[in-house]
Amino acid sequence: MKGIILSGGSATRLFPLTATTSKQLLPIYDRQMIFYPLNVLVKAGIKDILIIVAPEQSGNFLNLLGSIFDKTGVRLEFKVQKMPRGLADAFVVGENFIGKDNVTMILGDNIFEDDFSKEIKSFKSGGKVFAVKVPDPERSGVVVFDKKMKAVKIVEKPKKWLSDYIIPGLYIYDNRVIEVAKQVKPSARGEIEIVDLHNWYLQRGELTVGLVKGKWLDAGTFDSLLEAGVYVKDKKLHEKFHPVINKAIVEFNEELKKIAKKKL
Ligand code: TTP
Repeated sequence: MKGIILSGGSATRLFPLTATTSKQLLPIYDRQMIFYPLNVLVKAGIKDILIIVAPEQSGNFLNLLGSIFDKTGVRLEFKVQKMPRGLADAFVVGENFIGKDNVTMILGDNIFEDDFSKEIKSFKSGGKVFAVKVPDPERSGVVVFDKKMKAVKIVEKPKKWLSDYIIPGLYIYDNRVIEVAKQVKPSARGEIEIVDLHNWYLQRGELTVGLVKGKWLDAGTFDSLLEAGVYVKDKKLHEKFHPVINKAIVEFNEELKKIAKKKL
């Protein structure tokens, strides 16, 4: 299983904060946002992770993460997405990195309290996504369940209410996703949509939809960014990171302090 963190995009909803940095490098309490999706992948035992970034911010990602995991067995690769072509583009940009493997893709601005290790480790083939109940489903990819909670339909930003469940930014797919993503045509808003990938697997009866436990936040607005920081602090989520990530952050901080002292 390979891992991808999709961490580019325009982040227009967070202007002017994101005029000077990337959304995924903004703080969620005491660490950069990107450590949260990274934690989901590392906790699931994924050792090969591709971070897809926007060209303007690539240097900042490299400064933070370029050597932080050197001695840990977690290997990070970086790739630039020249234009924000849509979420499904992660599998096109990541084609060479994925190779012949399966892949878990997570959005760089998604904060999950849940642990997906079991689902990721036991994944064999097809597609697996998750659903979460939200008060404003019309802003996302909505999933409709039948009475037995089997997914029957997935629609991107439906104009009429269909369901309160949406699919947050964690997707597990087998290797066919690369070819499927390459075939997807841009939608009316000019993006290649991830729901087209879900529907490709759903139509073949090969998509399973689990439920997210605990809190989920997409930290892409001022309010959700603030809410995420407060939630993390209150629930002490920052203390529950995988030891590999915590150790790497502590060592990085020590190194920064040493350099600052020398400069002084
Ligand atoms: P969004 O929040 O949908 O888009 P955005 O980050 O550009 O923000 P805004 O709507 O405020 O303009 O993106 C979800 C995640 O996916 C986020 O981490 C950015 C990332 N992303 C890419 O890396 N490439 C893309 O082409 C798109 C559409 C999103």
